Amino acid sequence: MKNIESKLKEKRVFKPSEEFVHQANLNSRTLDKLIKKYKTDSSLFWKELAVNEITWIKKFTSVCTGRSPFFKWFEDGTLNISANCLDRHIETDKKDKIAIKHVSEDNQINSLSYNELFSKVNSFSSGLKNLGLKKQDRVIIYMPTIPESITAMLSCARLGLIHSVVFAGFSSESLKDRINDCSAKVVITVDSFKRGGKFIQAKETVDRALAMGCPSIQHCIVYKNSSEEINFDESRDIWWDKIIDTNDKIITPEEMMAEDLLFILYTSGSTGKPKGIIHSSAGYLLNCLLTNKWVFDLKDDDIFWCTADIGWITGHSYVVYGPLALGSTILIYDGAPTYPDGDRFWKIIDENQVTVFYTAPTAIRTLMKLGDELPKRHKLDSLRLLGTVGEPINPEAWIWYHKTIGKENCPIVDTWWQTETGANMIAPLPGIYPIIPGTCTKPLPGIEIGVVDSEGNEVKDTKQGGNLVIKKPWPSMLRGIWGDEERYIKTYWEKYDNRFYITGDTARKDKDGNVWIMGRSDDVVNVSGHRLGTMEIESALVSHKYVAESAVVSFPHDIKGEAIHSFVVLRDNFKSYAGKQFADELREWVKIKIGSIAKPDRISFSTNLPKTRSGKIMRRLLRNVARGEEISGDTSTLENENILNQLKDIH
Ligand code: PRX
Repeated sequence: MKNIESKLKEKRVFKPSEEFVHQANLNSRTLDKLIKKYKTDSSLFWKELAVNEITWIKKFTSVCTGRSPFFKWFEDGTLNISANCLDRHIETDKKDKIAIKHVSEDNQINSLSYNELFSKVNSFSSGLKNLGLKKQDRVIIYMPTIPESITAMLSCARLGLIHSVVFAGFSSESLKDRINDCSAKVVITVDSFKRGGKFIQAKETVDRALAMGCPSIQHCIVYKNSSEEINFDESRDIWWDKIIDTNDKIITPEEMMAEDLLFILYTSGSTGKPKGIIHSSAGYLLNCLLTNKWVFDLKDDDIFWCTADIGWITGHSYVVYGPLALGSTILIYDGAPTYPDGDRFWKIIDENQVTVFYTAPTAIRTLMKLGDELPKRHKLDSLRLLGTVGEPINPEAWIWYHKTIGKENCPIVDTWWQTETGANMIAPLPGIYPIIPGTCTKPLPGIEIGVVDSEGNEVKDTKQGGNLVIKKPWPSMLRGIWGDEERYIKTYWEKYDNRFYITGDTARKDKDGNVWIMGRSDDVVNVSGHRLGTMEIESALVSHKYVAESAVVSFPHDIKGEAIHSFVVLRDNFKSYAGKQFADELREWVKIKIGSIAKPDRISFSTNLPKTRSGKIMRRLLRNVARGEEISGDTSTLENENILNQLKDIH
C-alpha cells in the first residue's frame, strides 16, 4: 500500500530528448494517423498492419471474426512463424547479421548469424520430423535461455508443433503436471546448466517427472550443455546431436493457418491448478512485431537485451518471436545477475554495446541495493532505451534506473501486459509521451482499455481505482485455456457478460489518461515479477502429511515487490513440530512441489486459522498480520479471537 501511495504522489515528468524524438520509429504525426485510422475503421487498421508486417503464404480475407469470447484473427490466411523469423531475413542482406549473441555465465560468447540460426533450426527440425511428430503435437521445452532452446522453439514453429516452454526452475512435479495437462509427446532438455556458479541438474528433474508417470511422452531429447554425467535411458532418451541432420537439408516450413496454435504457456491463476494459456500464430506475431517497433523502438543496428527467461511470456515475445521476426540482434545471458559480481549486468552491457535493455523492477531494486559504485565502474553509454515489466516499479527504483543506468539520457518504458495478452498493451511510446515514474502511461494504438466498477461502468473519479479490462479484441489475445473452455470463460469474461476481457488487475486512470496499476484483484501474488496463485502454494503445503490447513497471503517487500506469508495449522499428532526447523522443512517441501520461486518467506504456525462462524477463513485479518498492520474492520464475526495472538509468531 505504501508503494501505491508514494506512487500516487509522484509528479515528476520526464520528456524524451529531442535527439530521441527525432529518430523514434513512432512520432506524434504517425501516432495521430494511426489513431485516426483506428477510429475510422478498426478493421482496416489491423488489416494494413498485418499485411505490411507479416510474410503470408496465403493472404487473409477476414480480419476479426467470431463471437465474444472466442475471436479469430486473419482466419483464412496462412503463414509460418519460423519463416517469418528466419527465411525472410536470409533472403536479404540480414543473412550475415548477428541474430543471437549468447553470453554464458562464465563469459563464453557465442554469436549466431541469421544464416547460422537458420541452419541450426533446419537441422533440428529435420531431427524432430524424423521422430514422427505431427502438426499441433505438443512438445515441452525444459531448458535455460541458450541458442538451442530458441532453436527448439523455432523448429517447433517450423513444423507446426505446439511448444510449451516450462521455466527450468520449476520442480519435477510442476513439470509432470504440465506434461500431462497437454499430453506432450516429447520433452527437450539439457543435461545441466550453471546458475550462480553451481550446476542445476535439469535432466535429473525431467527423469523424476517422467518417473511419476507421463504416459504421453515418447522421447526425451537431451542437449549436452555441460560435462556433467547423467542417467540415460536408451529406450527413451536421445542426444540432440544424434538426431540433428548435418546435411544442410532445408525443411520446408509447414503452411499453418493463422489461428493454429503456436504455443501453450502455463501461468498461475486463483485455483491450485496452473492454466495453459494458448496463443495463435498470426495474431500473436503481429502484436509482438508492432510493440518491438513502437515501444522498444528497435532499429537495424540495435542490440536488444531482454533479461527474461524463455520460460516466461516476456522471453517468448521480446527475446524470441518479436525481435527475430523484425530481424534484430538479441543478446541472451543464462547466468545469475550478480555472478560473479554485482556489476555483471552492467559489464555485459558495456562489453557488448547493448542499446536497448529490458528487465524487471525486482532486478533493478536488487542491483540498486548493492550501491552506485558497481554501475559506475562502467560507461553504459551504448544504452539508448530502458524498459521494465512484470510488476509495479516504485519511483525510487525508477529514478535510480533513469539516473544511474540511463544517465538521464534514456526514456524508460514501463510496459504493462500479461501472459494472456501476448504483447505489451499499455506502455509509453518513447518518442512521444512524457513519462511520470510509476505509470505505464497509455494503451497502445488499437488497444482499448477501461477501468470499471463492479457493474462494468467506467470509473470517472480519477482518484478512484477499478478493475482493469480490455474492451475490444486484439490480435495477440489468448485464444483460451488448454482443455478448459469453461475456466476460460469464468476467469476472463463471465463477470461482465463477455463484454470485456478481465485482466485481474486493479488500476486507476489519472486526468491525463495515464494508467497506474494498483495490484491484483484475485488470489494471485506477484513475487519478484513472478505470478503465483496463493491456492497453488496452499495446496503444496497441505499435501505435506503434517499439515492440516494453510492460508497464504502476501506482504510488501523491498526487493521482491511482494513476498509470501504462509499461515499453517498442523495436524493434532504433529503439533509439536511447530517451529523454525519445521518451517525450513516446509520451505523445502514447497520447493519440491512447485519450485524455489514459491518458497514462503515467512511461516506462522497456529492451532487454527481466524474464521467466521460459517468456517470461512478471514484473509483480511491474515493480511493485517502479515503486513504488521493494526487489525482492521469488523472482527465480530470472528469465531476464535484468541487465534490472532498465535499468528504473530513468525518463522
Ligand atoms: O499484475 C500485472 C503484473 O504482472 C501480471 C502478469 O503477469 P505474467 O502473466 O506473469 O506476465 C508478466 C510479464 C508480462 C499482470 O497482471 N504486471 C505486468 N507488467 C506490469 C505489471 N504490474 C505493474 N506494472 C507493469 N508494468
